[in-house]
Amino acid sequence: MALTDPSKRLEAMPPYMFAELERKIEAKRAQGIEVISLGIGDPDTPTYRYIVDAMREAVGDPSTHRYPSNRGRTEFREAFADFYRSRFGAEIDPIGEVIPAIGAKECIYNLCFAFLDPGDVALASDPGYPVYTGGPVLAGAEAHLLPLVPSLGFVPDLDAIPDDRLAAARLLFVNYPNNPTGAVVPDGFFERVVELAREHEILVVHDNAYSETTFDGYVAPSFLATPGAKEVGVEVFSLSKGYNMTGWRCAAILGNADAIETYWRLKTNIDSGLFEAVQLAGAAALRGPRSDVEQMCSIYQRRRDLVVDALAAIGVEVTPPKGTIYVWAPVPEGHSSASFAELVLEQAAVVVSPGSMYGPSGEGFFRISLTTPDELLTEAVSRLRAHL
Ligand SMILES: Cc1ncc(COP(=O)(O)O)c(C=O)c1O
Repeated sequence: MALTDPSKRLEAMPPYMFAELERKIEAKRAQGIEVISLGIGDPDTPTYRYIVDAMREAVGDPSTHRYPSNRGRTEFREAFADFYRSRFGAEIDPIGEVIPAIGAKECIYNLCFAFLDPGDVALASDPGYPVYTGGPVLAGAEAHLLPLVPSLGFVPDLDAIPDDRLAAARLLFVNYPNNPTGAVVPDGFFERVVELAREHEILVVHDNAYSETTFDGYVAPSFLATPGAKEVGVEVFSLSKGYNMTGWRCAAILGNADAIETYWRLKTNIDSGLFEAVQLAGAAALRGPRSDVEQMCSIYQRRRDLVVDALAAIGVEVTPPKGTIYVWAPVPEGHSSASFAELVLEQAAVVVSPGSMYGPSGEGFFRISLTTPDELLTEAVSRLRAHL
């Protein structure tokens, strides 16, 4: 074995499939062609002013400068409990039912290490946020994929999970509003998840990254507002997308106190918590006025409509999503996800994400992110209309 060979765990990670697309993007840029990326879901507008102001003040307070506690500051935990009550109608005990996470990605990854052993299974949506499958693999366990298909409204068919997978399952990852499909949770689905989790003793992890970015008057629920949810699950709430805070790494895990204690136990061994100034800024974000969040939603809704209209003009019909910051669309006849993404890059110098990047059931789709400034998005859309 060579000095720099990666571990077997890292080797077991799926290969990075889009190296070829990235190489082509670089080649175009080298030719001086302005490539517009609609790939990544990273808000293009700044964090709201009142949050930046709260951060400035918090950084000036020496009590935030020392090692943070992984339990979180009282201000942070209480702000979450109040937010969950007023926004979602869910009761959270600020003492044992919420602690900070250094972004949802960290939290989901570490939950895999806290709960999975070799031989265990995590049930993960396909297509889905890649950490639901990468986390279990790195933890030496296995991910069992639950296909999300349009005919079922992009929710998994829980009755179709084989018995042996249910028996081995310890975690179930759920995410609504859903990345990458843009689907919102249908009535009764969270209740069904609680039943399944009870019956098979599976810990539910609801990844709530997009409840604050919704359109057309739709208001997304929290999983934790479902009766019985706290007995079987946790919710990871990220401030990244709703508050334009992707760089701040600010999230929380809420819900089942025993599960949170186990996650905390793992974290005390590997990290030293979320910078307390960020915790105070996060608390200010949740306590702040709703107007900035609402304004962002109207910006994304306008961009969504622009994209949906442009896709219709090139023969791609999509139902406008009610949430997230993505449009998920079928590739035209005769194309795979990868070949269509390459065609769009070739003809229009626009980058879209091939659906297969998010799992095998994403094949046949592509994803457009709405986090590109209006002028560039308009330019990208007019290129699509002109060249495809
Ligand atoms: C479904 C989902 N969960 C989690 C994340 C990451 O959130 P965070 O920035 O809090 O790590 C993303 C980011 O794209 C996401 O789409």
